[in-house]
Amino acid sequence: MIALSVVWLSSAGFAAEIDWPMEPMEPDLENLPSLQNGLRLFTNYCLGCHSLRFQRYERTADDLGIPHFVVMETVVFTGQKIGALMTTAMDPEKAKNWFGAPPPDLTLVTRARSPEWVYNYLKTFYIDDTRPFGVNNKVFANVGMPHALFELQGVQVDTCKPRVKGCYQLAVQEGSGLYSPEEYDQAVYDLVNFLYYVGEPARLERQRLGIFVLLFLVILGVFTYLLNREYWKDVH
Ligand code: HEC
Repeated sequence: MIALSVVWLSSAGFAAEIDWPMEPMEPDLENLPSLQNGLRLFTNYCLGCHSLRFQRYERTADDLGIPHFVVMETVVFTGQKIGALMTTAMDPEKAKNWFGAPPPDLTLVTRARSPEWVYNYLKTFYIDDTRPFGVNNKVFANVGMPHALFELQGVQVDTCKPRVKGCYQLAVQEGSGLYSPEEYDQAVYDLVNFLYYVGEPARLERQRLGIFVLLFLVILGVFTYLLNREYWKDVH
């Protein structure tokens, strides 16, 4: 069912031409501080509108190595229990009226799009007075979402002359955001890294398991070798 909807999503015109030089984004599930920061950013800046309806706080806390009480105190703002799904409190009907489109569930967004797509999307909001929220996006033209990380990034403007083809330039007005451009890039990286983890939480476990399996094979190999030597000792 999930697989089906992903296939459907990815064929539903998502591959539409993006006229933007995409920056690469390599997720790193080994980097727990990054994932933890991503969780913090997500609950602070995204959960107000977007759900992760296949993800529970408890599982997240365990996978990311955060004690339950810390999660309860720092990221559960909705009065939910630790075993609850990470759903938004926003009414989808109202949201649709406000934004023209309901904020989609983001559990599978890095699979339906790609980590790279989401990374570039969050970095390319720019001022556009013709849009309802005053911003547009280079990767998702005329998007219905406001720039949720505006206070962190600050005011970003398109510095190309109008209708110049092949010009790709966005610049942040210095000092207009809480973060420097480098800090902002890192924050977006952490957020997307977290969303990548959410897309398939088992991946984290599988990687850890993989290491144990390899270790086991090495140890087994040593014993097999010793045993083999023992058996053949008297033959020669
Ligand atoms: C104020 C509500 C709101 C907040 C806060 C918000 N979003 Fe959105 N988001 C939306 C809406 C509405 C859409 C759908 C826009 C459309 O289809 O035009 C959307 C779309 C998206 C999409 C595109 C999904 C797709 O595949 O089409 C992504 C990715 C996304 N949001 C990520 C985020 C992240 C990450 C955050 C937190 C930093 C965030 N959003 C915060 C309202 C919000």
